[in-house]
Amino acid sequence: MLLAQELYCKTSLIDTLALFGGLTVAVCLLKFTWKCWCGLRRFVLSEQWQVDLRAYGQWAVVTGATSGIGRAYATELARRGLDVVLLGRSDNKLQMVAREIKNEYGRKTHTIQVDFTEGGSIYSSIAKELQGLQIGILVLLSSQCVAPLMVSTNMTHNMQVNCLVKSASAFAYEAVNTVGHSSYTSGCLSHALQVRTEQ
Ligand SMILES: NC(=O)c1ccc[n+]([C@@H]2O[C@H](COP(=O)([O-])OP(=O)(O)OC[C@H]3O[C@@H](n4cnc5c(N)ncnc54)[C@H](OP(=O)(O)O)[C@@H]3O)[C@@H](O)[C@H]2O)c1
Repeated sequence: MLLAQELYCKTSLIDTLALFGGLTVAVCLLKFTWKCWCGLRRFVLSEQWQVDLRAYGQWAVVTGATSGIGRAYATELARRGLDVVLLGRSDNKLQMVAREIKNEYGRKTHTIQVDFTEGGSIYSSIAKELQGLQIGILVLLSSQCVAPLMVSTNMTHNMQVNCLVKSASAFAYEAVNTVGHSSYTSGCLSHALQVRTEQ
């Protein structure tokens, strides 16, 4: 009798542990599948399911728009039909990017010459310049929801592009695809995979 009771207790303990193990594996599998789906949607399917960015507003505002990632964003957004407000320190460079956008994509631009190291006083004049524009997208490269790894720009001494280091235009193309599919992103598949492997 005692042996049967002991055997029953052991079996039910094994059953409970097996159930717990099974549930843990199922939850891990679900989490893994969900993460794979999010990555696939963000970086692969987003190329086909591109959001119409004009639905957010006709204008995009891009800081650091005269070089590197900012300039690549500005041209990519213009290529997709948005008008672009360009912010940077050098009026000459701003006019050059504005001309390029007008000539290549026929989009409107508005340039704002500004140095962000000048403190809080700059923001009221920026606000005045932006008044009346229907702004849907802000690319603020100093306070990112897009957090890239290495992108070949002046800042990174125009390092060689390879499977880990993106060119600014390729990065901007993929990062803009993620709009509407993600609120925080590394911007491109290669960087997302690198972040995952480092974790
Ligand atoms: N490249 C990367 O691998 C990488 C990776 C992670 C994060 N980031 C971040 O992404 C942002 C852009 O990097 P990037 O590689 O594209 O750099 P970049 O090629 O050097 O371009 C910087 C841009 O910011 C403008 N700028 C610099 N200081 C400014 C200031 N005080 N006021 C207004 N505009 C200013 C520059 O305009 P001027 O023509 O006036 O110089 C230029 O348009 C930075 O915040 C960087 O930290 C870059």
